[in-house]
Amino acid sequence: DRPPPQQPGGRDSRGGRSGGPGAAGGRRSAADVFGGAGRGRGRGPRGQGRGAGAAAASDSDGDDDEEWGPRQGPRGPDLPPMDPTYRYGDPSLPVAKYRRQILWLVENHAVTIIVGETGSGKTTQVPQFLLEAGWAESGYAIACTQPRRVAASTVAARVAEEMGVELGTGVGYAVRFDNAVSERTRIKYLTDGVLLREMMDDPLLTQYSVIMVDEAHERSLATDMLLGLLKKVLKRRPDLRLIISSATLEAGKLRDFFDTSTAGSTARRRAALTAAAAAAGAGVGGVSCSEPDRTPAAVTVEGRTHPVQVHYLQQPAADYVTAAVSAAVDIHCEDMPGDILIFLTGQDEVQTAVAQLEEHSRRLAGGRTSYSLRMMPLPLYAGLPGAAQSAVFRPAPRGVRKVVAATNIAETSLTLEGVVYVVDCCFVKQRAYNPLTGLESLLVAPVSQASAAQRAGRAGRVRAGHCFRLCREEVFAQLPKVTVPEMQRSNLVSMVLQLKSLGIDNVMRFEWLAPPPAEAMVRALEELHALRVLDDDARLTKDVGLALAALPLEPSLGAALLAARGLGCVEELLTVAALMSVPHVWAPAAGALRAADEAKAKFAAAEGDGVTMLNVHRAWRSSGRSSAWCGGAVGGGRWAMGGGRAGRHFLNASSLYRADEAREQLLGALRRHGLLPASSPPPSCGADMEPVCRALAAGQFMSAAVYEGTQYNPLAPEGDPGVHLYRLVRYTAHRTAPLKLRIHNSSVLWRSAPPCVVYRSVQQADSGWYEMQGVTAVQPDWLVELAPHMFHRPK
Ligand code: CDP
Ligand code: MG
Repeated sequence: DRPPPQQPGGRDSRGGRSGGPGAAGGRRSAADVFGGAGRGRGRGPRGQGRGAGAAAASDSDGDDDEEWGPRQGPRGPDLPPMDPTYRYGDPSLPVAKYRRQILWLVENHAVTIIVGETGSGKTTQVPQFLLEAGWAESGYAIACTQPRRVAASTVAARVAEEMGVELGTGVGYAVRFDNAVSERTRIKYLTDGVLLREMMDDPLLTQYSVIMVDEAHERSLATDMLLGLLKKVLKRRPDLRLIISSATLEAGKLRDFFDTSTAGSTARRRAALTAAAAAAGAGVGGVSCSEPDRTPAAVTVEGRTHPVQVHYLQQPAADYVTAAVSAAVDIHCEDMPGDILIFLTGQDEVQTAVAQLEEHSRRLAGGRTSYSLRMMPLPLYAGLPGAAQSAVFRPAPRGVRKVVAATNIAETSLTLEGVVYVVDCCFVKQRAYNPLTGLESLLVAPVSQASAAQRAGRAGRVRAGHCFRLCREEVFAQLPKVTVPEMQRSNLVSMVLQLKSLGIDNVMRFEWLAPPPAEAMVRALEELHALRVLDDDARLTKDVGLALAALPLEPSLGAALLAARGLGCVEELLTVAALMSVPHVWAPAAGALRAADEAKAKFAAAEGDGVTMLNVHRAWRSSGRSSAWCGGAVGGGRWAMGGGRAGRHFLNASSLYRADEAREQLLGALRRHGLLPASSPPPSCGADMEPVCRALAAGQFMSAAVYEGTQYNPLAPEGDPGVHLYRLVRYTAHRTAPLKLRIHNSSVLWRSAPPCVVYRSVQQADSGWYEMQGVTAVQPDWLVELAPHMFHRPK
């Protein structure tokens, strides 16, 4: 009996968009919201719980938004009795002591900032407090955003288990191309990117009563963008509450950003909001919608941490993976029981470390440690198949010490119990963007001191712990204090497209928590203009711009998919775009590189990685979508390592299933927006792969590169293939040094060096080379045909 959050007869943005070309209707509603002409349509979330107790507390304490200790906090609202079928949360976690206080602050303040150590229970408990207090009644839901998809799904599973409900019913999650939600979902964990996408259909996010932006300290691109947008939404929805949670103290900055209660304008703003609420019918039908305090409140939850002693290397380590492994083995052999957590930068390093640890473990199995402990090496990274993931979270059996090699996801998003020793390589893989070259790449960079402190903190969960940093103390002191927000080091093309489609035309004047660099913004606008997404007035174009905004794809792949319509290969491009959008299609193959290469060679296509993906998908389909056929994921992906039952095709079955899901969603989006006829199947080009390559070229022409020559190393052994050098075709403002561009060895075109290629992404290697991934061979003539505004034939 869920009442629609929007009133009947009102202009429903969802309805407006469903009619294909009529999508412009929906767009206008977004423009109304953010451009200043709309009106608030919010309704009070609850018909109760705003009793005299809360009001009295508000009168006496409402102005005091200083941090509250557990005892000095005001009396909480009168809570409805607990639903006897639910169990709410884990009362032993530190955050449980702050339950009443948090609820009171949320009740009375538009924005509440919760700062607390990782593991104190913010993510798992706070949404349960809100649910119990009635914030998800009358059809509303509570959203909790995560920067990482793996965090969204694991946390949802954990909370469902705590509450004794099935995942996808009361508690669900939504990440790109994968979700477990239903009409009944009251607590929804979702990535910040997915919430942004929901905003395009429903700019005021009317289905939510509370939005918790979690892990705000990570300052991901989507989080920053979301905070800017939510600030606008809050002005329109006095009933909405925002919770921002962060593991580090930067509450001051957030508070200033959200403080809209500056002296003088308060009364005016309040009056305006009350009028807006009345106009929207928010006060109708006995639903009270009291005006919240616009000053953000903050609360600090102290953690449950023990001291952690930090150790540094005396001599720098040559190879941090090997150094980390030997540090872990030394700890295992010499120190007291307690799990070991190793921080590395990426999946490949994690796999290498686990393979090395297994080697040591076998060697040590004869001579046990003085504590007769056995070592259990485990990997933890974002693309890890579900079964292997739960193994990491299960406590180690008696007599076993877990040694977990993890990427950055173990820093704050996920908490492992039982860790006493942390080994930190002091590096992190992060995005880097150079607006001069327009190249965004993944780069292994030194970690910031703030991140390193978080990592060290993971050792103090159960008792006093130790952290071993694999660098010298003097070097550590030189590291940057905090991590630069992602906004400052990213390609902003997708973000600008999203803002534009939300009706925010002047993206340069958008209110940012920290504004992105102007050059990056200008570059993004230029690139969107080149893709014909923006017209000469920097407005979204009707044909490409509006369509592209509707597709949950990065703009270049989206443009390729749209181009496929004219080339008769939508069927193929759906598959290619889906497979290029899901991570980790190939299963990890550390220790079995040769077998993996052979498996890959079976699908390799001279046209490049896109067509190779297509071959993979076709073969998998004819195997009856079998996961055994994939091989990679058998036994949670661990069989692909060190021989044994090495995967037959080294593919990740879960990624392929997800790609199928993505395909369906993309097809649905094309049809829903009138970009493809709903009745007939998508056009296919059959065995002719040229249209597929042309479509990719049409989307990725900004990343076209031509072969320049081969560099040979005079010291290399005879027969060394050398390095094939490429040059970007488009203009770059990079004058000082030529770009070192080559094809990454994960590409099937690695050795063949075609004369002209387009690529999907680049990664910068330690050596300084930019390595192209997702490469397709193209004809220069196609570029001239497909993007005459960018390319012309040499005279
Ligand atoms: O968000 P915050 O870091 O404050 O803590 P949390 O993620 O809510 O975790 C609270 C507790 O739940 C921790 O002790 C975790 O170890 C536990 N937890 C778990 O065991 N399994 C999960 N998938 C998530 C949390
Ligand atoms: Mg958390």
